[in-house]
Amino acid sequence: MTKFRFLTAGESHVQGLNVILEGIPSNLSISEDYIEKDMSRRQKGYGSGGRMKIEKDRAEIKSGVRHGKTLGSPISLWIENKDWANWLIPMSVKEVSKDQDIKRQTKIVPGHADFPGTLKFNHKDVRNVLERASARETAARVAAASICKKFLSELGINIKSWVKSVGWENSSISNIDLIDWNFVENSEVRASSLEDDEKFKKVIDRAKKERTTIGGVFQVIATGVPLGIGTHTQWDKKLDGKIAQSMISINAVKGIEIGNGFGNTEKFGNQIQDVIEPNLDDIRNFSPKSNHAGGIEGGMSNGNPIIVNVAIKPIATMTRPLPSVDIITGEVVEAAYNRSDICQVSRACPVGEAMLAITLTEEILEKFGGDSLQEIKRNYSSYIKTFKEYGNKK
Ligand SMILES: Cc1cc2nc3c(=O)[nH]c(=O)nc-3n(C[C@H](O)[C@H](O)[C@H](O)COP(=O)(O)O)c2cc1C
Repeated sequence: MTKFRFLTAGESHVQGLNVILEGIPSNLSISEDYIEKDMSRRQKGYGSGGRMKIEKDRAEIKSGVRHGKTLGSPISLWIENKDWANWLIPMSVKEVSKDQDIKRQTKIVPGHADFPGTLKFNHKDVRNVLERASARETAARVAAASICKKFLSELGINIKSWVKSVGWENSSISNIDLIDWNFVENSEVRASSLEDDEKFKKVIDRAKKERTTIGGVFQVIATGVPLGIGTHTQWDKKLDGKIAQSMISINAVKGIEIGNGFGNTEKFGNQIQDVIEPNLDDIRNFSPKSNHAGGIEGGMSNGNPIIVNVAIKPIATMTRPLPSVDIITGEVVEAAYNRSDICQVSRACPVGEAMLAITLTEEILEKFGGDSLQEIKRNYSSYIKTFKEYGNKK
């Protein structure tokens, strides 16, 4: 069995993005149309910039799949950047002559990767950094994760997301069991009610009017995750730690909460533990009365839905630029402006789903390892059967 891993390559305005995904078992059905659905979800959103109108993302499967099924070999994907034709000279791989416009950028955007990246890599053009730091790269993650999601769905694991807040406006929904997921999917801000939809859009409109940007919090939920994914036995093998790392790797994400992590700090201990009781209808023979822990205890899934809240900051690039500096001359200037979003919270949701899918795929493969989908399913079901040894013997 090959260890699961994936890599992406590609700058924002080069010919396209490459993805290599290794460790996906054989015999999983997958198609380019299936991947496209998730990719289009990353492109929708109230307050997204002009680029989304240019790009219509589609990942081409270049290898690792034959006649609609995975082979168990590395899968490679190619996502063309539709805007590439306008960037032939600025992003040329070959040297270009000095009189050609390479869209050089020397004005730092505060809050972007520009300042540390340009100095650290010894560049004289900020574009050498911002092109890869751009969230265009997340299109590659979503494409890769769409295959992971298909794999997880074979084991009954599904991943969803919705927006909890935009700016200072918080959702009025407190019970996620009541969320209408069709509504979320059709809302331009991935809100879970009309009331939230309207108030989130108002905040975004205000940000646009004031020529600034706005962030928020979104929630990613995985259902059907079996008990026992991850382990308490070593710090770097804990599931919550792995999820936090993968989520915070998303561009502009600055905070992670598993379950009611922050809210629980305002309550007494007896109010926030998930008390379990016998329940022979539950696959584990026990069920909890609540899910304050967000489905993870001791670095292991406990069989409840995994709930991750993700805080994403307001975007750095603004139509009313902040004061900044020119990295070459040292002069005080206005920050550069490149086409940009006003609010990316809803567009980040599929990226959050992607990172959770990738992390869970890695962990599930480690636990139920096998080369074919059938072998993994066999391992999975024989493990699940061991739960029946508990809670049943008076
Ligand atoms: C879906 C999505 C879209 C984004 N769009 C933009 C954008 O249009 N302009 C911008 O300056 N930053 C955008 N960002 C955020 C930057 O990529 C990010 O702030 C930058 O790479 C610096 O990294 P950091 O904020 O994680 O420290 C976006 C992030 C996501 C997840």
